[in-house]
Amino acid sequence: MATDEEPAQHRPAASVCLEQVGLRPWQAATSYATEPVEWHVFKQFVLRLLGASRLAQAHARWLGFALQPAWWLYPTPQSHRRDTLVKRLLRAARRALPGSKNHVLFSGSILPAPTDRFCGPEFRQDSFYLQSAEAEARRLVTQLSCDRDTRILDIGCGQGRLPIGILRVIGELSYIGIDVDRRSIEWCRKHIERKHPSFQFRLIDVVNERYNRKGAVLEREFRFGLPNKSIDIIYLYSVFSHMREEHMRIYLSDFMRILADTGRVFFTTFVEEGVPEVSINPDNYVLDRYSGPLHVVRYEKDYLFSILDGTGFAVGNFSHRTEADGQSAIYLSKK
Ligand SMILES: C[S@@+](CC[C@H](N)C(=O)[O-])C[C@H]1O[C@@H](n2cnc3c(N)ncnc32)[C@H](O)[C@@H]1O
Repeated sequence: MATDEEPAQHRPAASVCLEQVGLRPWQAATSYATEPVEWHVFKQFVLRLLGASRLAQAHARWLGFALQPAWWLYPTPQSHRRDTLVKRLLRAARRALPGSKNHVLFSGSILPAPTDRFCGPEFRQDSFYLQSAEAEARRLVTQLSCDRDTRILDIGCGQGRLPIGILRVIGELSYIGIDVDRRSIEWCRKHIERKHPSFQFRLIDVVNERYNRKGAVLEREFRFGLPNKSIDIIYLYSVFSHMREEHMRIYLSDFMRILADTGRVFFTTFVEEGVPEVSINPDNYVLDRYSGPLHVVRYEKDYLFSILDGTGFAVGNFSHRTEADGQSAIYLSKK
């Protein structure tokens, strides 16, 4: 996480946004740890059910507290399988409520519904989400020389935070978003690709224990189905931070093939010095409590750089703990 000692010029867009909404990065991380998204969905669902009653509305705050023991008695914490089931049931129930929808219109852009968003509770605030989307698009321009002729591959695109920002800051360009999460890809097709066909979204059904448990095994020979040297920028925000090392290596290897000679890669993950080479959900790090597998994948800095070097990449820029939840930002080019 960013700390007060970090020089301002290294502060990332995401941290700046946190400050704009009055949250320090460590506060966001703490609240993410103590208030899982399922709790918000659960509370919202029950309160909406009770919403018809005036008494319930008047005492919504107290009802929220009253519901908390019921939630914590439910045996979730260590089982992501059950988390996922609960999440699905609650989402289905929420969607079945009259008037519920999976998007919101905010400041002229269609955004995913707040409880469906990735990357921590601060992103549930519409203004924060949109500012972060625009800041990511500006990052493409200022750090990665993106213009309207640039071909972008956004891996782990989620519900299109980057393209939402690109459309506001840069405009139409050649963009491919890839994800293992079917709902995210369906959302992006419906709300982005239909109106902007130069933005295309593809589902790849490969396994990720956190996001796509039943996906196919990711074979060493995996290829993205894109021609050689056909991409100028490969972007992965908060994706390698939730993937196994062997899967990251397979992706990096195909990046060398699909990336143009002058192309650039940007990604974020957790990176520290003097820690084991790779740790998954390490104790006493970043969050008080992890929810499910691959919540935090952390690399020792020299080890990560040796993987990148061995794949054929040069690290152009590295900024420590400047991104969401204390992730670091890494910028690569071909050696
Ligand atoms: C924390 S979310 C970040 C979403 C988006 N990049 C953003 O910043 O808003 C991580 C995303 O990576 C996706 N993901 C995880 N493993 C993946 C893989 N092997 N290939 C492609 N996407 C993956 C997840 O489904 C999820 O949408």
